[in-house]
Amino acid sequence: MGMCGIFATTNDQDAGKTILSGLKKLEYRGYDSWGIAVKGGGKLRSQKQTGRIAVSKTNLPKSKMGIGHTRWATHGGVTIGNAHPHFDCTGKLALIHNGIVDNYQDLEKKVKGHELAGETDSEIIAHLIEKELKTEKDLFLAVKKVVRLTEGYNAFVVMHQDFPYLVAAKTGSPLVIGVKPGENLLSSDVASLLGHTKQVIFLEDGQIAKIAPDVIRIESYTSAKEIKSVVQTINWTAKSASKSGFPHFMLKEIYDQPSVLTNIAESKVKEARELGKAIAKAKNIFMVACGTASYAALAGQYLFAGIAGKQVNSAIGSEFYYYDGFINTRSLCIALSQSGETIDTLQSVKFAKDRGAKAISLVNVKGSSLDRLSDETILLTAGPEKAVASTKAFLAKVAILLLAAHAMNRKTPHGVIEIKQATRAIRRILDFKYQKYLKKLAVKFKHSHSMFILGRGVSYPAALEAALKIKEVSYIHAEGFAAGELKHGVIALVNQNTPCLVFAPNDETYRDVISGAMEVKARGGLIIGISHKPNPMFDFYLPVPDSGNSTILPNVVVAQCLAYYLALARGLDPDMPRNLAKSVTVK
Ligand code: M6R
Repeated sequence: MGMCGIFATTNDQDAGKTILSGLKKLEYRGYDSWGIAVKGGGKLRSQKQTGRIAVSKTNLPKSKMGIGHTRWATHGGVTIGNAHPHFDCTGKLALIHNGIVDNYQDLEKKVKGHELAGETDSEIIAHLIEKELKTEKDLFLAVKKVVRLTEGYNAFVVMHQDFPYLVAAKTGSPLVIGVKPGENLLSSDVASLLGHTKQVIFLEDGQIAKIAPDVIRIESYTSAKEIKSVVQTINWTAKSASKSGFPHFMLKEIYDQPSVLTNIAESKVKEARELGKAIAKAKNIFMVACGTASYAALAGQYLFAGIAGKQVNSAIGSEFYYYDGFINTRSLCIALSQSGETIDTLQSVKFAKDRGAKAISLVNVKGSSLDRLSDETILLTAGPEKAVASTKAFLAKVAILLLAAHAMNRKTPHGVIEIKQATRAIRRILDFKYQKYLKKLAVKFKHSHSMFILGRGVSYPAALEAALKIKEVSYIHAEGFAAGELKHGVIALVNQNTPCLVFAPNDETYRDVISGAMEVKARGGLIIGISHKPNPMFDFYLPVPDSGNSTILPNVVVAQCLAYYLALARGLDPDMPRNLAKSVTVK
């Protein structure tokens, strides 16, 4: 069913209300449609709607137990029929699902004759459980049997009118149990549970749980033996997962960045040193990641080469498998991920571990699948990141890699100094007057058909990241290029007034990137220079103080802010871009 949000409670004063508020916190995971089912007066009642959650209360009766879902469609269009929860033919069983049931076409044949309301793979599972319940009288066991038949990376939660508990099963997509005696809960993420409890259990793949107000029983699919899981305490606050007065999470998270970097400079030196040591020891080293995290990895590749003189490769999660011949017991796989749930990144780590490689991850969410899968984890400690566009997690990853590169060169204190310089530079960018100018630029360029972003060296991944930010939140076509590549084809696209952002920091790339920018200007393009000093060829100038190797950090912040204001200028909600979901848990 895709990348969705799941929220459920077993004993609330008003389950519908609590679930609605939980779903609002999970909407970043999917926002095509939503739905809630509650058990009221012994019967199941539901409400479903397409689009984002636009209501402040449900029309459901007050009840104690319920399940809710926000959807990001994969199978079946955005319709009420395809929205979750799905019901069986009796209307007594409701199911919510995250993931894709790979063998749904085979399973569909087993429920011939059943009445299906939509076209989703999820609904088939509800009907399979209904069928199983004809012979198996225990809901927990019936779900267990059916889940065993499913293939793919999934999470299911089932509620039945006649059973006083919920059943949660995980084969891939995240599921977290909120441990609150008398009122246990379930969710797709930790942040949405913070207002209820900080005690959580992360379900593992292959586990199934029976959850009632005072019962949490976890088993594996293949055994009836109880598994005693560790209850973890989360140290995030509910406030850190709120907008804290900012109009959008994206802006709030951009403004979180100085304190994220300060924290890294103060507390991550030891772990960065350890990472440096592991890199020095390994033979083939691959950083694997997706999207923005993959650009952080590419930035790391330049930083390790430039600062530590070490070749550390970066690979996109979905492409990593093609390096099979190079991964063995002497290899090191460094996975980078904000969520720790990105399926391609997780699969890459499994792939590397299967070949005997060591896995270290840089991850923001403690207890996430990647955290649990890795041999060692360096937590980004950036606090919850909720906007779909990743901002502070990018900076945190690059800062840690930068520290590790300096550590390999025995110059960690210099890395700390550089991060502090970058932090000061970011504070200047976040200043009111600077932001006002960025807003003005955004208004000027809001109708642009496309934008180009140029950089060389470590500013090349910065250009890729800047382009991704602009694309995903403003829907303006933006492309990041290594400036030297322009004349090999891309320049054909430049015409009168095409805006071109140019990263021209105080390093060895300066002269060459300026000459690349000149080629654009000569063809009518408008140059927005992001640099430590003005240059006569800049049509617009965005100053960024030199912060040595860490100048990439403030440079990217300028682009994040510009992307944010472009979205606003175009009347868009930057927190929930169309077609996107925060956590990409399907392949
Ligand atoms: O949670 P992860 O860091 O593993 O996520 C990876 C990408 O899905 C993510 O960075 C995505 O590209 C963002 N939308 C970028 O802003």
